[in-house]
Amino acid sequence: MPTPMDLSGKVAIITGAAQGQGAAEARLFASLGARVVLTDVLAEQGRAVADSIGAAACFVRHDVGNENDWRTTVDTALATFGRVDVLVNNAAICVNRPLVEQPAAEFERMLRVNLVGAFLGIQAVVGPMTSVGGGSIVNIASQAGQQGLSGYSAYGASKWGLRGMSKVAAIELGPLGIRVNTVYPGMIDTPMIAHLGVQRGPGGHPGAPLTRVGTPEEVADVVAFLASDASSYITGADLTVDGGASAGRIPVTG
Ligand SMILES: NC(=O)c1ccc[n+]([C@@H]2O[C@H](COP(=O)([O-])OP(=O)(O)OC[C@H]3O[C@@H](n4cnc5c(N)ncnc54)[C@H](O)[C@@H]3O)[C@@H](O)[C@H]2O)c1
Repeated sequence: MPTPMDLSGKVAIITGAAQGQGAAEARLFASLGARVVLTDVLAEQGRAVADSIGAAACFVRHDVGNENDWRTTVDTALATFGRVDVLVNNAAICVNRPLVEQPAAEFERMLRVNLVGAFLGIQAVVGPMTSVGGGSIVNIASQAGQQGLSGYSAYGASKWGLRGMSKVAAIELGPLGIRVNTVYPGMIDTPMIAHLGVQRGPGGHPGAPLTRVGTPEEVADVVAFLASDASSYITGADLTVDGGASAGRIPVTG
């Protein structure tokens, strides 16, 4: 029986790991025995996170929307740690703007990073994962990929697209021993939503039954579970980590 959350011997690539959830996942993965390749467009910050983890981590400057960058990332993982077992497609950008005001270029850029980036990542790791008998891919979507959220047409389209692609990838890659699952965070206390003026603790998120925003570490725990052999029979699954925000509407009382 695998010990839940044991990642000993595994090598993981985590995109968008310079801050927020990706950084929390990199730290947790390393503490669970994994060796981790952190990638991000924020080179200085990403390198600092990798340095703080130590010898079990390295950093690659990487734009997930760029196919050549994916080759560099996978080559670095293989040269540094010898294998690839886990990919966390975590990097994303989010611009909140009414649909009719959104420039097409901005819409396309969000699809490029959030959706095509994950697509390129999956393509890049299938070979190395197959050569070690399989692996686990975790795609980070959003509550905006389960519901329509006003102001998030491009971001929502990218995350709903990620949801659909994850299902197909799970079907096509299952026979190779590669599992593909999707995580749907709700409001999580990271730089991505800092402009919303997040209030931490109970009462800070009235739209969620748990009444608070989540922490990056609470998402990281779920991602580590999906990366580990404790979830060995789970693929094509959707795991929501949103304090219940997508469960339904909270009636207005009084
Ligand atoms: N924070 C939330 O409330 C929330 C809610 C739902 C879903 N999510 C999702 O969680 C994931 C992690 O987001 P976060 O909250 O940690 O946000 P974040 O903005 O703190 O981190 C995202 C990271 O991705 C990096 N990145 C952006 N474009 C990139 C590119 N082209 N190539 C490589 N890296 C790139 C950023 O530099 C940043 O370090 C994202 O997929 C996001 O869409 C976040």
